[in-house]
Amino acid sequence: MESNDLQTLYQKAIIFAAIKHHAAGQTLPGTELPYLVHLSNVAMEILIAGSNTLDFDTNFAVQVALLHDTLEDTPTTAAELELAFGKKVANAVNALTKNDNLLKNEKMSDSLTRIKTQGKEVWAVKLADRITNLQKPPDQWDSEKKLKYKLEAESILAALHGANDYLESRLYSKISEYEQFI
Ligand code: NI
Repeated sequence: MESNDLQTLYQKAIIFAAIKHHAAGQTLPGTELPYLVHLSNVAMEILIAGSNTLDFDTNFAVQVALLHDTLEDTPTTAAELELAFGKKVANAVNALTKNDNLLKNEKMSDSLTRIKTQGKEVWAVKLADRITNLQKPPDQWDSEKKLKYKLEAESILAALHGANDYLESRLYSKISEYEQFI
């Protein structure tokens, strides 16, 4: 019988993600570091948010956090995710995945619309994703690109209002801090 405690679920999901992103040759953008750094940062935000949020399914959210980029960035299929982690996790990761058939400027709003059909834990993963990505931008980004990234973060925060007080307030501060880079 497989145990279902948070630690076991975490280990199963991080190994799965590590194998998939490594096989796809994906690194942290602009570095040679493993992509797993991003995923574990998102999971860390979710674990801390979970301990500061009532009625929050941390077991579910942590799996979604660790797996959130497997469909978008690796050849993993939703069926494979469903088999390994169940339908709820697979559907959540699907909602967090941009639809490549859409125009570039429609992808984010389409994904946000689909995220909003999911549980608040999935909204929280989207906030955690952007919180961890609002670090010092790469040197080659011009002001326009940085400004666009900040505006996109603001639109995520606005669209997901009501998701999670703790993470919304963290994203709000990260957006303000990001202004120093523009
Ligand atoms: Ni991500």
